[in-house]
Amino acid sequence: MSTTLFANGTIVSATGRQAGDVLVDGERIVAILAPGQAESMGVVADRTVDATGKYVIPGGIDAHTHMELPFGGTFASDTFETGTIAAAWGGITTIVDFAVQKTGELVQDGLAAWHEKAAGNCAIDYAFHQIIGGVDDDSLKAMDYLVDNEGITSFKLFMAYPGVFYSDDGQILRAMQKAGENGAMIMMHAENGIAIDVLVAQALARGETDPMYHSLTRPAELEGEATHRAIELSKVAGNVPLYIVHMSASEALEEVAAAQHAGLNVFAETCPQYLYLSLEDHLMQPGFEGAKWVCSTPLRTKHEHHQKDLWKGLRMNELAIVSTDHCPFCMKDQKELGLGNFSAIPNGIGSVEHRMELLYQGVVTGELTLERWVETCCTTPARMFGLDKKGAIAPGMDADIVVWDPNTKTKLGINDKHHMNMDHSAWEGFEIDGKVDTVMARGMVVMENDTFTGKVGHGQYVKRGLSQYLH
Ligand code: URP
Ligand code: ZN
Ligand code: ZN
Ligand code: ZN
Repeated sequence: MSTTLFANGTIVSATGRQAGDVLVDGERIVAILAPGQAESMGVVADRTVDATGKYVIPGGIDAHTHMELPFGGTFASDTFETGTIAAAWGGITTIVDFAVQKTGELVQDGLAAWHEKAAGNCAIDYAFHQIIGGVDDDSLKAMDYLVDNEGITSFKLFMAYPGVFYSDDGQILRAMQKAGENGAMIMMHAENGIAIDVLVAQALARGETDPMYHSLTRPAELEGEATHRAIELSKVAGNVPLYIVHMSASEALEEVAAAQHAGLNVFAETCPQYLYLSLEDHLMQPGFEGAKWVCSTPLRTKHEHHQKDLWKGLRMNELAIVSTDHCPFCMKDQKELGLGNFSAIPNGIGSVEHRMELLYQGVVTGELTLERWVETCCTTPARMFGLDKKGAIAPGMDADIVVWDPNTKTKLGINDKHHMNMDHSAWEGFEIDGKVDTVMARGMVVMENDTFTGKVGHGQYVKRGLSQYLH
């Protein structure tokens, strides 16, 4: 085993910061030492990473990615290989990706296909949620099996995308009741897809085909309504834990906050795109450019208070986690499928590489504390989704460690810092205060000196336990 000492940095956790050193032996953290303690104890590590003037934080956990997701007649453009390498560049040391059961397929077959895509191809550790695209007796039984045997303890359902992933209210209720029995978390894509499809058809009939209509046909009210309905259904199922994914609208946040105040097991995440990007500045760019920012839930208007509310929600813990919903598509041959018809543009934005960088800007602007940055990006994702060895710097935990340099700047863009497999960046021109300096993923330094030093295949599948928020 080889030892590494992260020396002279400021160790930041979800609850505080301290000067000190972190000692790693092999794949695990073995000690946190006070300044000077290593020397007085005669600890000589095989290598030392000097973190003077820098923050030492737990590796980022992106709990919402879609590598190679089939969508709209194509596949998300990052493979597990390219996507996890890009993630490593961005200080992410674990992803939780979504295995897919499409309507009409068996859950086990969808999961097996996902393992095949990922196994041996990841640079960092990975775990899975399971999308249930067809709630029936078989898939309900499979949910128990996955919780008991596969380390999959969360299931995503869709109130949107009729005919693809959609579940009706009866199906949702049945899946929630099942989760009530086996202790799993239900994750919800909360948009009223039936009403959205009516608005989409009406817009297209009027000749409204540009990318911006993607947002205008998915109004915030229909995110709020679906969020409300999901909460009521989870209540009827027995206060079953519910996690609303990719929240973009104040209307939805208000539903979640009210449910939390009423004592319900309701959690939510947002994504960087909803904190920084908008209908007017991005989706409405001339010509077909806006297609780069077509994702669901959609980017909202900047003339209401969605972004302000989401930042507040993050501070108040109404939003517990920031995930990326990384689902990249190139413009060429992929987003272009929707030229002349916004509803045929594959949905998704690629951000897995930039999550730590983008959220750190909230620290710079005073929206978040350093500790809250670590909590929402590293610690809570681990606890929420049962990654028991990850998300904190403490003896016995996996050696997933990021050294963050607050004194350097980074520029994002296709010709700047960009390692995702895309022909554009949704973050083109963004100037970032701070920089990912060094990344260790389960004991292996995977990024240092602006070089990827990891290995495809180092990443292992992690079986998850039940959510620590509930048990
Ligand atoms: O636009 C998105 N979010 N694409 C990925 C699929 C999903 O709904 O999360
Ligand atoms: Zn979704
Ligand atoms: Zn509001
Ligand atoms: Zn998603």
